[in-house]
Amino acid sequence: MSPLDAIRRHHAELTAFRRDLHAHPELGMAEFRTAEKVATALEALGIEVHRGVGGTGVVGVLRNGSGNRAIGLRADMDALPMDELTDLPYRSTVKGAMHACGHDGHTTMLLGAAKYLAETHNFDGIVHFIFQPGEEGCGGALAMLEDGLFERFPCDAIYGMHNRPNMPLGEYAINSGPTAAGGAFFDITITGKGSHGARPEVSIDPVLAACHVTTALQSIVSRNLSPRDAAVVSVTKVVGGDAYNVIPETAVISGTARFFAREVGAQIEEGLKRVAEGVAAGFGASASLDYRLIFAPTINDAEQTEAYAAAAAELVGDAKVARDKPPGMGSEDFSFMMERVPGAYIYLGNGDGAMPHNPRYQFNDEAIPYGAALYARVVEKGLVKDSKG
Ligand code: NI
Repeated sequence: MSPLDAIRRHHAELTAFRRDLHAHPELGMAEFRTAEKVATALEALGIEVHRGVGGTGVVGVLRNGSGNRAIGLRADMDALPMDELTDLPYRSTVKGAMHACGHDGHTTMLLGAAKYLAETHNFDGIVHFIFQPGEEGCGGALAMLEDGLFERFPCDAIYGMHNRPNMPLGEYAINSGPTAAGGAFFDITITGKGSHGARPEVSIDPVLAACHVTTALQSIVSRNLSPRDAAVVSVTKVVGGDAYNVIPETAVISGTARFFAREVGAQIEEGLKRVAEGVAAGFGASASLDYRLIFAPTINDAEQTEAYAAAAAELVGDAKVARDKPPGMGSEDFSFMMERVPGAYIYLGNGDGAMPHNPRYQFNDEAIPYGAALYARVVEKGLVKDSKG
């Protein structure tokens, strides 16, 4: 039986699990209830469970046969700090928290794959089920890595997945190479000298300097980077002053950078520092940069991309698997894991509906079997069981 058909037999149970997570969302690095539910469900399947990996992370280990090759399957568990605006019967019961990115669905799909693989044992080797906390800019992947994820649970290949609204249900999209951008957040503090608003001659106006710095920062992408390197520098926040008649002491410029190679991110960081300090100095002010890499670029390995696409094509047919998805400027912290172990990240159709991070977003429960079956099939194909075994 195809994993898709086999997992469909558990569809009602998995849907109930997903909706319970949806009603009880937990923010990044505080997924206590979610992690315990996952751990308990894995234990009920006879899977070896490791709690507290990188905070609230959970790793399940399933072995079969004598093979030593290991595949890691990863899902994220956290919700977003926002209020839900749907009227679903299982909408969030927690104010200020909502599963608006479908991580409740991702968690459920990985659990569905664990259930199938624990029942069928149609593989030879080791599967690591990696339930990651804090994906939404909370450092969850790095926390698991710092807790020795791949030293304790070595993997030869790793696979991750994200639902995608407005892509048809039962379809997949992937590409080899850069697939999601690296992302950094920055704050630039401009320090001048405050004064009465009517006496600019005794001030060093940090607001005027901040305006010039903001304009000049747009030269980094257009003048310092190669036209072949796609990148973004967006100033999204400028804060300075509290009163109409006071020139403040400081102003702060904040924003985000996106890029597809770590070297380009480093070039942007260097450019932000040079432009901010140089322009501010021209006004007699000073500038200091705080630059934080939040997401590494997500780079799909060619071999794992092909293995993932081939597994998907077995489930739904070649025509429903796009292998040339254009890279997106969004970011994903599975990237940090893929810097350590070759892997691939695929998008799964969620059908029509609101986009992720929207208060009306809805994960489509009909996607659960497609996600779970793909996780399972990539294991069966990657850890092939001897037909005699
Ligand atoms: Ni997400």
